[in-house]
Amino acid sequence: MSAKPHVLLLGGTTEANALAQALAEHDIDATYSYAGRTGSPRPQPIAVRVGGFGGVEGLAAYLRRNRITHLVDATHPFAATMSANAVTAAALAGVAHAAFTRPAWQPEVADRWTRVADIAAAVDALAGPSRRVMLALGRMHVDAFADRPQHHYLLRFVDAPDSPPNLPQFSLVVDRGPFGVDADRELLRHHAIDLVVCKNAGGTGASAKLIAARQLGLPVLMIDRPVLPHRLELHGSQDVLRWLGHEASSGTERGV
Ligand SMILES: NC(=O)c1ccc[n+]([C@@H]2O[C@H](COP(=O)([O-])OP(=O)(O)OC[C@H]3O[C@@H](n4cnc5c(N)ncnc54)[C@H](OP(=O)(O)O)[C@@H]3O)[C@@H](O)[C@H]2O)c1
Repeated sequence: MSAKPHVLLLGGTTEANALAQALAEHDIDATYSYAGRTGSPRPQPIAVRVGGFGGVEGLAAYLRRNRITHLVDATHPFAATMSANAVTAAALAGVAHAAFTRPAWQPEVADRWTRVADIAAAVDALAGPSRRVMLALGRMHVDAFADRPQHHYLLRFVDAPDSPPNLPQFSLVVDRGPFGVDADRELLRHHAIDLVVCKNAGGTGASAKLIAARQLGLPVLMIDRPVLPHRLELHGSQDVLRWLGHEASSGTERGV
């Protein structure tokens, strides 16, 4: 590749953090983009910007203005709007685009999963008698479960919310991943949880609760991933470095 790459990395995930580290180690000019959902975004070893771009047009303008050569979408698999915008904006601005993705979680023999298509289907599935439910969904989707007020919900947020969730019965833990299996098993036990509801994020940053649920024999209501537009998908930092025209040196891959 002739021109030096200038990367915009759409982040907010454990995988994006690992990729930022690899980009820094290879002295690749790159900026990490956060949506600004949390009050204290994790520091990064590359430049950081925070906040939405203003839709497809805003992102395309950002790419042009900052002479970005490569757009790497390492957002969460459920960040469907951002990922769709990235595909269109990169095409508009003539910028190379790839998604840095992780495989979906697959059930193991001992798992007791019920799969549903989306949040609305998860809410539907919670009709019935009162249960103690770990709602491992993040702040944005919790209010949808106000339609099922008979349950006690265990919530885990990165930041304490400004206003309490719109649920009659809940316990709130403020903590930031990645989480460990022993701690998650204790959390599920301590709160006497009998159902875990979560999105099929994949990756290692949030998988501990699934292993803990398996160990405790608990059922899981697993929300499938949204369908995204076709795009080039890369699965490790080394693949991204190669795509950027850098020889991937050994020993620098961390956490992916
Ligand atoms: N959804 C999840 O379950 C989940 C879980 C863990 C982490 N995250 C992270 O949280 C962030 C927001 O996720 P979401 O599900 O709210 O996204 P989303 O619904 O797909 O995006 C909504 C809007 O937020 C802005 N946005 C999203 N990601 C951005 C980024 N990395 N940099 C700048 N702007 C961004 C964009 O605003 P404009 O249209 O104004 O550009 C986008 O249109 C992402 O960085 C994602 O990786 C999401």
